[in-house]
Amino acid sequence: MADRNSPHLVGFISRKFLCCLFTLTTFFFIFSWFFVFRSTGQPQFIDHSLLPNSKLFSTIENNEETQTSVQNEIQSSSIPYLNCDSNKMPLKVFMYDMPPEFHFELVGWKAEGDNVWPDIQTKIPEYPGGLNLQHSIEYWLTLDLLSSRFRDPKGVYSAVRVFNSSEADVVFVPFFSSVSYNRHSKLVRPQKKSHNKLLQEKLVSYLTSQEEWKRSGGRDHIVIAHHPNSMLDARMQLWPAMFILSDFGRYPPNVANVEKDVIAPYRHVIGSFINDSSGFDDRPTLLYFQGAIYRKDGGIIRQELYYLLKDEKDVHFSFGSIQKGGIREATKGMHSSKFCLNIAGDTPSSNRLFDAIASHCVPVIISDEIELPYEDILNYSEFSISVRMSDAVKENFLIKLIRSIGKDEWTRMWNKLKEIERFFEYQYPSQQDDAVQMIWQAVARKVPAIKLKLHRSQRFDRSDVGRERTLTSVPWSKHNS
Ligand SMILES: *[C@@H]1O[C@H](CO)[C@@H](O)[C@H](O)[C@H]1NC(C)=O
Ligand SMILES: *[C@@H]1O[C@H](CO)[C@@H](O)[C@H](O)[C@H]1NC(C)=O
Ligand SMILES: *[C@@H]1O[C@H](CO)[C@@H](O)[C@H](O)[C@H]1NC(C)=O
Repeated sequence: MADRNSPHLVGFISRKFLCCLFTLTTFFFIFSWFFVFRSTGQPQFIDHSLLPNSKLFSTIENNEETQTSVQNEIQSSSIPYLNCDSNKMPLKVFMYDMPPEFHFELVGWKAEGDNVWPDIQTKIPEYPGGLNLQHSIEYWLTLDLLSSRFRDPKGVYSAVRVFNSSEADVVFVPFFSSVSYNRHSKLVRPQKKSHNKLLQEKLVSYLTSQEEWKRSGGRDHIVIAHHPNSMLDARMQLWPAMFILSDFGRYPPNVANVEKDVIAPYRHVIGSFINDSSGFDDRPTLLYFQGAIYRKDGGIIRQELYYLLKDEKDVHFSFGSIQKGGIREATKGMHSSKFCLNIAGDTPSSNRLFDAIASHCVPVIISDEIELPYEDILNYSEFSISVRMSDAVKENFLIKLIRSIGKDEWTRMWNKLKEIERFFEYQYPSQQDDAVQMIWQAVARKVPAIKLKLHRSQRFDRSDVGRERTLTSVPWSKHNS
């Protein structure tokens, strides 16, 4: 346990602590009431026996028989058993055995016979490279569930696949929506619809006909739509489910929001800075930005910042996407900069933030609408700087702020970045507290809220017998319950 110096641990300790404190308090509460009843025969609220007076203590000290009987009565009384370690239980996930056209066929795997899933113990199908990888979350989560059957039972896992959906906390929908968008949104004549659109239609009819979906109205389902343009059609019908997204930029608030859904990091495209000993004085560039120019939406701020910063001699600010400029150049740039700008583009989020984290380049976030992964347990102020867009465009505001951060403060953030970078690492097999595990933990934290919604929606099921079940009608209704 000693090596778990993570927010996971902090959360774990404090929950465990609170849980045990609660148990202890309950114990003493009942214990004290026992004496109230004993000494007075009935509870009296303004009674001296409520106070820790000498009479009470003398009873305990002098009468061993009484003490033992008190303990016995307390042990046999109905104090609810509180499992202080309950949050160590992995999330139980049921995964649909959906036809391969929804998942691994989209990355080029060919199913043999009736096999729905590749045999990943023999060979793991590869996800398309390049910028596709930033949204590959679907792939890593699915692999993690597939491996749950044969992996080392002694390992620490945040999710385990169950094969009986009645025993599951959540139901996972293995649709590779981002690669479906990236690879198949072009219309191929003579077809009237793109393959991506057709797959989404198929997905909706597949899901809504499943027992599991009908049972919960989809509320306990997990649907991944990490690319901001993925699932554009299906999301309007699948929104009771929990989405895993990059941001909420293109979603109406009733379809996706921070209460219901989970924000997952992009997979960084810049390589991790392994054995980084490049501190404050070794990074000559003060502030680094490399990105595309956008003229629409929030993207206009990039140009405004460019004019404010272009004459600062230790600032690197250039336009052009990483694809053209080359990943190697961007890696060099971020590894040799103290601060890295993350400015809203055509969407509030971008992989640049996660490239900065992997480079241990302190992120400067200028994006009012951004939502950050695991922010309920992670304090981003410890390793990044957020600036409101309206402030950032004020003359000299940004550069003054950044120049005011000295070596000590910067080094604290740099050290923190090295500590937390593993939370943003997607890999197979997944490791403790990497991005895959952190996403499962974020989902697990939403499970009580799902159960609450589900139970509330089922209150009238008994009296509604004969009528159309409430649940099947709920997803299409306007009520965001
Ligand atoms: C699935 O789990 C439920 C609840 O634990 C149980 O009643 C049911 O029999 C199980 N079904 C199968 C096929 O094992
Ligand atoms: C990082 O440092 C460790 C321990 O000194 C060493 O074993 C490893 O090869 C280094 N890795 C790289 C990529 O330099
Ligand atoms: C978050 O981190 C910042 C910077 O270290 C600190 O000032 C703030 O108090 C922290 N917030 C919480 C809730 O711990």
